Amino acid sequence: MKVLVVGSGGREHAFAWKLAQSRNVEKVYCAPGNAGIASVAECVDIPVNDFDALLDFVKYEWVDLTVVGPEDPLSKGIVDFFEKAGRKIVGPTKAAAQLEASKVFAKDFMKRNGIPTAEYKTFTSIPQAREYIEMKGMPIVVKADGLAAGKGVLVCETHEQAMEALDIVLKEKRFGEAGDRVVVEECLRGEEASYIAFCDGKTILPLASSQDHKPVFNDDKGPNTGGMGAYSPAPVVTPEIEARIIKEVMEPVVEGFKRDGIKFKGVLYAGLMIDGDKIGVLEYNCRMGDPETQPLLARLETDLFEVLMAIADEKLSEVELKWTEEPSCCVVLASGGYPDSYDKGKAITGLEEADAIEGVTVFHAGTAFNDGHVVTNGGRVLGVTALGADLKAAKEKCHEAIGKINFEGMHYRTDIGDKALKRHAS
Ligand code: AMP
Ligand code: GLY
Repeated sequence: MKVLVVGSGGREHAFAWKLAQSRNVEKVYCAPGNAGIASVAECVDIPVNDFDALLDFVKYEWVDLTVVGPEDPLSKGIVDFFEKAGRKIVGPTKAAAQLEASKVFAKDFMKRNGIPTAEYKTFTSIPQAREYIEMKGMPIVVKADGLAAGKGVLVCETHEQAMEALDIVLKEKRFGEAGDRVVVEECLRGEEASYIAFCDGKTILPLASSQDHKPVFNDDKGPNTGGMGAYSPAPVVTPEIEARIIKEVMEPVVEGFKRDGIKFKGVLYAGLMIDGDKIGVLEYNCRMGDPETQPLLARLETDLFEVLMAIADEKLSEVELKWTEEPSCCVVLASGGYPDSYDKGKAITGLEEADAIEGVTVFHAGTAFNDGHVVTNGGRVLGVTALGADLKAAKEKCHEAIGKINFEGMHYRTDIGDKALKRHAS
């Protein structure tokens, strides 16, 4: 079988890497891919939003299955486009992808379906939003409505920050049209977790739990990023909490969409805040998390191709996911300046030495080839991922591998895994 992975990040590298291991897969293509993906798949230079060219490619090469990594093509309707042409593709339709593409849609959907989430109101003008913020007091969260690569959420501790956030989104238009509307919501406290499941419209098949780290600096300081590292499993998701997440957070989405005449197929990802026995949904995504995919697929023992085929064929009830007991940890190495502006084209050294360490896989995100050398080509550059006998060992292996890698301006968090390690210690 031939598979096409759409995307070019660390998540797509992990997909391509795992699919290439399948006995059923004879060839993996990736559009457009990156320097690391090129070692496990054939990269094809087609942008993720060029649906015509992607479909032509799939027809020409007789690709059996397409899987879409990023949210942008999903929210623009790539699945509708492929299905109309009779091609197998894994992901939600444009209508279902609204759950991620519009925070206003998601909040209204949650409210309508009784899903626990922070109290909120939606605004298009600064004076009304300001009035609401003054009434609610601090802390407060300001969110651009549309897609903003994980950066459109501003958690405000002071009144000044909240006013600045409104200006950034509604006046300065830093996120473009995505900021035509804002959601202003109550700030939830607790520990975050990512809960991800495969769905075929009927069956919900949960993956192992994981925890992402959005802020750029240690101790969750600094602005939000796409994610600076993740580990799996996340002990904050106890068996009791997990049972409630399935009932209160995952099933209501599939059921709610069904009532609206929409079949939810693909990946359903809930970003959660867990505080004791309180669960709040921060957001839904309709695709795998990045970087969560990297530590999750490092632990997955089941053939990913069979799982993806079962989603497309709506036979997920026949699939069981098996995970290695070993925890995994992924640390993102980012370009100097990220999540603000950064330079590209910096030479990366030590990749082979790092990859050679047993249990370590270096997933590439923003990388490219320049004259045969691997150089930086994005904000998040690499996701150094390791399995270990326990999380401490996985974390140590990650850092041993990071010690071998270098590029100008490289920065990363050193505390990925610490929340779980503290939990184990107490
Ligand atoms: P989102 O894209 O909505 O998940 O938001 C990105 C990040 O902002 C989350 O992972 C949280 O760290 C933070 N965040 C979002 N909403 C809230 C909230 N209501 N309370 C506290 N933190 C939040
Ligand atoms: N890691 C967060 C996300 O993929 O949205």
